Amino acid sequence: MTTLKRPKTAKKAPIKVKNAADYSAQLLAWFDTHKRDLPWRRGRSPYSVWLAEIMLQQTTVATVKDYYKRFLAQFPSVEALANAPLEDVLHLWQGLGYYSRARNLHKCAQAVVQDHGGNFPKTAAELQKLPGIGPYTSAAIASIAFNEAATVVDGNVERVISRLFAIETPLPDSRPEIRNYAEKLTPNERAGDYAESMMDLGATICTPKSPKCLLCPLHDLCTARDKGLEAELPRKKPKAKRPEKHGAAYCIINEKQQILLRRRPNKGLLAHLWEVPHTGWEHDDLPIDIKGLDQQNHGPIVHVFTHFKLTLEVHTITAPNGLNPEQGEWVNVADLHTKPLPTLMKKVLQQAGVLTA
Ligand code: ADE
Ligand code: SF4
Repeated sequence: MTTLKRPKTAKKAPIKVKNAADYSAQLLAWFDTHKRDLPWRRGRSPYSVWLAEIMLQQTTVATVKDYYKRFLAQFPSVEALANAPLEDVLHLWQGLGYYSRARNLHKCAQAVVQDHGGNFPKTAAELQKLPGIGPYTSAAIASIAFNEAATVVDGNVERVISRLFAIETPLPDSRPEIRNYAEKLTPNERAGDYAESMMDLGATICTPKSPKCLLCPLHDLCTARDKGLEAELPRKKPKAKRPEKHGAAYCIINEKQQILLRRRPNKGLLAHLWEVPHTGWEHDDLPIDIKGLDQQNHGPIVHVFTHFKLTLEVHTITAPNGLNPEQGEWVNVADLHTKPLPTLMKKVLQQAGVLTA
């Protein structure tokens, strides 16, 4: 296996880990017999590693599995993905959330094809110049696909490192210190296996609640365990509460069993996706005047976005015959599945009884 140079990293605090090599040796030995069998760990290419890592950015392993397989089946190569219409990519992404990932996925595939001859760059530093690839994902791809000794730090790794070195500073303030330790432990060889062994340790042994220290390959090296602090670490600064927004959504249906949908703007929240008209939380412009029309209230749905919690009262409205809206388009209710709809809108349509779960 080739050994590549370590990527340059930011400022270093004077942290010493005398026996750094013991940690990676014990972890790798454990990984060899305990690694999880995951779809993206079979027959991998840089393309498939990248695809999985983008999906795993904000979504759990259990959810990603099926999406990953469907994506690879529909877009078997970076060229296939680059050449597909964005609409198809968004459609297949439906339900994964954080749709900017899907738009960046498509942009990134096009950049790899157009600017890199279809080959992903091989270092974390170069990978980070591509759309949708930040410090975490670049390190994951560089280590797993190209064996660069780049250090992957996600929430799992933060937890494991905080415990191994009994870091008392709360998150997020402890991040620079955590990164320092994590870099010290990263071996020059088998960097990709090492990154995945850390992920697996965090997911299966050093779990947020009740870590299984008795089964842990780092048991004898762990300071939190030694001090009996494993359940208390990492400490966290209290988070600000998510703001709440309220509005109303309208499923407007005509005599031909068509529903009025419109496409969201090309930028911002849920960009490019389709929606039913609504009021109260973003803007109030409706494509038709609903005053005086027959309305039925189906009660509220709740959806949690990163930056706010949204409650929408769901209504159905029977449109007057021949109604021509100023914006949006009539879509056969039976064809609703052909439009990329965010989970928020699926909840609305299910609440209204227009879609079945
Ligand atoms: N989370 C992010 N990347 C992962 C990977 N390669 N394997 C398992 N979990 C992950
Ligand atoms: Fe986590 Fe316990 Fe292992 Fe320490 S010994 S790394 S706390 S599972």
